[in-house]
Amino acid sequence: MISNHSNVALQCANVSVSFGALKAIDDVNHDFETGRVYGLIGPNGAGKTTLLNVLAGRQLQHQGQVLCEGRDISRMDASDRARHGIGRSFQITKIYPEMTVTENLRIAAQIKHSRFMPFWIATRYDRKLAADIDAMLELTGLTAHRNDIAGAMSYGLQRALELGLTVLPQPRILLLDEPLAGIGHHEIEQATRLIQAASAGRTVLLIEHNMDVIMALSEQIVVMSNGRVIATGTPQQVKADPVVRSVYLGEDES
Ligand SMILES: Nc1ncnc2c1ncn2[C@@H]1O[C@H](COP(=O)(O)OP(=O)(O)OP(=O)(O)O)[C@@H](O)[C@H]1O
Ligand SMILES: [Mg+2]
Repeated sequence: MISNHSNVALQCANVSVSFGALKAIDDVNHDFETGRVYGLIGPNGAGKTTLLNVLAGRQLQHQGQVLCEGRDISRMDASDRARHGIGRSFQITKIYPEMTVTENLRIAAQIKHSRFMPFWIATRYDRKLAADIDAMLELTGLTAHRNDIAGAMSYGLQRALELGLTVLPQPRILLLDEPLAGIGHHEIEQATRLIQAASAGRTVLLIEHNMDVIMALSEQIVVMSNGRVIATGTPQQVKADPVVRSVYLGEDES
């Protein structure tokens, strides 16, 4: 079921993923419109991370198609998708813990550029790199921590850094898997503001178990259960949906 809308950033058409006898994703069809923030919710094991993996190119074994801005990217691997503007963070933090915050950001910034260039271009490039890193330190609130060893910082600051690493290459599409997981209560508000800032001007798919946060950040909610999309709509619509309330929120349908 491939639709043809020019304002669609990412599209799943009849996407299924099987792990042996288990259907982790079961015929998902969904359009993610450009510039919108989507919250992906559902019980443990619903298939949320697997769907993000399919979109990010980390789960190439699937049925159906993934389209990015109208182009079939189903066979494209994760690094090619990153070059095409799809950025992704993980349920578990991926930073270089023994390096400083700035060193981490520098590595993320350099990944997409070749190291071999004439010196006059290299000089200009270094200045641009330093400016990009400063901007990301500012966005993530890590300016005062720029020389801290990443792994020695609080978990909340490490997650902020990880988001900075994901956003630094300026992806048009941002896939975030539980960016608040493990963050202490006192850091949640700040982390939520950071996600909001990082989402500006981007298409975002956000997986998050904290209902208050995901309902506040998302324009559209996609509810998954047993590999299927069981409901979509605005946060208000989804919260009022009796099927969602029974399947996901564990409430009696009556
Ligand atoms: N590589 C794998 N091999 C086998 N089974 C897998 C694999 N990855 C995921 N699964 C299974 O697929 C189903 C969907 O898993 P997935 O991680 O996508 O769920 P999720 O919605 O992200 O859950 P959670 O909220 O706990 O993170 C689960 O039953 C899980 O055990
Ligand atoms: Mg998951």
